[in-house]
Amino acid sequence: MLRFLTAGESHGPGLIAIIEGLPANLSINTNLINQELAQRQQGAGRGGRMKIELDQVKILSGVRFGLTLGSPVSLLIENKDWANWTTVMSSDPIPVEPTRLLEPRPGHADLPGVLKYGQRDCRNILERASARETAARVAVGGVAKQLLAQFGITVGSQVKSIGDITAVACLCNPDQISDVRLSPVHTLDEEAAKRMVEHIDQARAAGESLGGVFEVVVWGVPVGLGSHVHWDRRLDAQLSAVIMSIPAIKGVEVGDGFALAERLGSAAHDAIYYAPEQGFYRRTNYAGGIEGGISNGMPIRITAAMKPIPTLMTPLPSVQIETKEVVEAARERSDVCAVPAAAIVAEAMVSWVLAGAILEKFGGDNIQETLAAFARYHKEVSAGDPN
Ligand SMILES: Cc1cc2nc3c(=O)[nH]c(=O)nc-3n(C[C@H](O)[C@H](O)[C@H](O)COP(=O)(O)O)c2cc1C
Repeated sequence: MLRFLTAGESHGPGLIAIIEGLPANLSINTNLINQELAQRQQGAGRGGRMKIELDQVKILSGVRFGLTLGSPVSLLIENKDWANWTTVMSSDPIPVEPTRLLEPRPGHADLPGVLKYGQRDCRNILERASARETAARVAVGGVAKQLLAQFGITVGSQVKSIGDITAVACLCNPDQISDVRLSPVHTLDEEAAKRMVEHIDQARAAGESLGGVFEVVVWGVPVGLGSHVHWDRRLDAQLSAVIMSIPAIKGVEVGDGFALAERLGSAAHDAIYYAPEQGFYRRTNYAGGIEGGISNGMPIRITAAMKPIPTLMTPLPSVQIETKEVVEAARERSDVCAVPAAAIVAEAMVSWVLAGAILEKFGGDNIQETLAAFARYHKEVSAGDPN
């Protein structure tokens, strides 16, 4: 079983992740992880924090000479901003406590968090609720992507809308990923990208924030990941859960998702064909590559909706948690829009689930065993034999 934990506060010394369950002998390239981290930091709409940080991973354990050992892999990303927060975020008691944050922000974890955890300072909640934590997930995803690459699986994403500006461009093959990543708003539609950047600039000037929609696409997924036999083994359920675990994500669709609900059945399902050289195949992919909780060999396609960033420079009304006075919600340094970054986090989380599904199906204590089982299965499935 593949599992990971993250730890770390937004303005603490750093973020850590521990991955357990990777097979031995998997090649790990630190630069590839750092590329993912750099991509998460980018995008129009990011706040001042991203100018301070230069996220780089340090591998603390589980990898020797570029190969996994089968032992837990631990990853560290230092927070450069920590230097400015050593007093406010001290783990030891300090003589004079810093100003507490008492004006919870609507849409953030501040108020439910202080009530649940019995806190008198919203900082004790927001430090962990902050999406800074997603840097650790992206590092984990960078490892998962390297496992998937061994099996010919590639994960990409693009932004489909920011606010009410919609992009029209198909992310149809993995060769387009590098172009998406050059865009300031992570989309192939250059004309829409210009309007999206303007929209973000206008929102910033108005003290507003924006959300949007992005898609994650996975190519090269073999038939047979996930299972129909139990609710928590369904691949679509696992993917939806990890996408929803990303802060500010409020909706997930698999394949054509909500649009399927208004179609006739004949226009909603992907007819099955067979050719000896190709095996079973489809000409459409309304299902987004998953039927009955099992990957069907078509690209996996997931779409997600991100709400606007909760921290507003023109804040909504709130209530001071001690005096109960009407106040403006707290302003923290903040992103105006983080949809491109969220897409990168989603790539990481999707990669994680698929890496786990690969290991569940093909097993192995070292990657050679996993690859051998995969090759045998691939041969049988390509020949059209039920495995
Ligand atoms: C990549 C990324 C960056 C984010 N940046 C900010 C930010 O700068 N300020 C903010 O208030 N919320 C930001 N958020 C959203 C909050 O973390 C999120 O809304 C909050 O934790 C509450 O969780 P919920 O929206 O899922 O209910 C960001 C989310 C992501 C995925």
